[in-house]
Amino acid sequence: MAKKFYITTPVYYVNDVPHIGHTYTTVAADVLARYHRALGEETFFLTGTDEHGAKIEAKAREMKLEPKQYADKITAAFIEAWQELNISNDNFLRTTDEKHMAAVGKALQHMYDKGDIYLSKYEGLYCRGCEQYKSERDLVNGECPDHKVAPEKMSEECYNFKLSKYQDELLKKIKKDELEILPANRKNEMVSFFEKEGLQDVSFSRKNIKWGIPIPWDTSHTVYVWADAFLNYLTGLGWDGEVGKAPLIKWGRGVSFWPASVQLMSKDILRVHTTIWAAMLLSLELPLPETIFIHGYFQINGQKMGKSLGNVIAPADLIKKYGVDATRYLIMSAAVFGHDGDISWEKFDEKYNADLANGLGNLTARLSNLIEKNSLKLELKINSDKKLTKQYEKLMAGYKFDEALKLIWDVLRNCDEILSDKKPWKLKDAKAVKKVLEPVAGDILNAAGLLKPFMPTVAKKIIKQFSAKEIKKGEPLFPRI
Ligand code: MSP
Repeated sequence: MAKKFYITTPVYYVNDVPHIGHTYTTVAADVLARYHRALGEETFFLTGTDEHGAKIEAKAREMKLEPKQYADKITAAFIEAWQELNISNDNFLRTTDEKHMAAVGKALQHMYDKGDIYLSKYEGLYCRGCEQYKSERDLVNGECPDHKVAPEKMSEECYNFKLSKYQDELLKKIKKDELEILPANRKNEMVSFFEKEGLQDVSFSRKNIKWGIPIPWDTSHTVYVWADAFLNYLTGLGWDGEVGKAPLIKWGRGVSFWPASVQLMSKDILRVHTTIWAAMLLSLELPLPETIFIHGYFQINGQKMGKSLGNVIAPADLIKKYGVDATRYLIMSAAVFGHDGDISWEKFDEKYNADLANGLGNLTARLSNLIEKNSLKLELKINSDKKLTKQYEKLMAGYKFDEALKLIWDVLRNCDEILSDKKPWKLKDAKAVKKVLEPVAGDILNAAGLLKPFMPTVAKKIIKQFSAKEIKKGEPLFPRI
């Protein structure tokens, strides 16, 4: 059977429409999904929206809408954005989906029956922005450092999940990379968190939040929104909440896709995933994801992106200005993958002009024009540079997407240099022209082959153009800005 590859993004909150941060994760996941599909692997790519909880409920009320109505609206915006960006997800999971909700109920019932969930009382602080309980240690000047508001004091009856029970087992698995956390500094961060702070039991139910999934054995409570959301990674494959051996067979498309090959996200949700989510899987007797990869966080001109600063970049703005494939390129090349990055419209404009309009676009136009003018007949083969392909594969396997793009652009720059050096437009003899242009055209074809997961439409166009018997000058790929 073909190797399987299952990749997920977080389910995004519907408290706001998609921005460039969500877009980064989703495009990166798409690049990986397309890459693995092309390798012939049985691939499943899941994304979706996280629609329950206090934050969404409050936002809906503010907009004078019922929570579901409000969630429908924002979810539609996410679906539209991903379609526009040519995202190849196999499913889009909404946590308000009936089947998901039923499965969450079933899963929690199982955890309750085995004693991993118990009735307790919660007294402490809650940050609605994070949808997380906070300890004094987490606060800066009494405020949540991410949301800049003091958390609410809470005291209520709740059902707790025995997170502490799984502390040792999880730490062992993280240390041994049975749950691989990448990049390595993120693994170290989590190991030290386990060792210094350890895991405390966590409330898995809320009594005064109606917008959620009712706890099956006590419907006066709803399920904690994170517990609800994590299970999307299973229900998105068609899992119905059944535990034990049966559910491991034949999820989605008749393939057992769990465990995920890689779960992609940023540092803001690393801790909850490697503690609560991983422990839930142990409690449900399911295997842990193979890898959790933490990519960097985007800042805009050195500032946190936010509505109040008015600097939010939406995917639709980028597409309008640069087009779909250029947007995908600009995002994926904006930062070292796994490191934070600072972005701005100025930097995008510059890179668009340098790498795309004057780079790839100009090169393909110049070359195809020369080939057409000289009526050359070439027979080029894609993937003919084995060394290049090997280097690229190594980078892709190591999540070094920005470096993979640099490698492709090295090839393009080299093509440009050859043309400038040899000046084939000055040559009289057709044979001599062919001798210069043929290998350059071959390199472009190879580069386009490697570019496919990043810029699927542009790559296809170039491949079609340069593998034709008669190469013709095409439309300009990237108009200058
Ligand atoms: N709903 C939860 C996740 C539940 S998963 C079981 C959530 N949603 S979110 O909408 O806030 O998305 C957070 C994720 O969006 C980050 O982990 C990252 O993948 C992406 N990003 C959001 N802002 C980002 C940046 N500024 N930069 C890079 N990625 C960012 O948390």
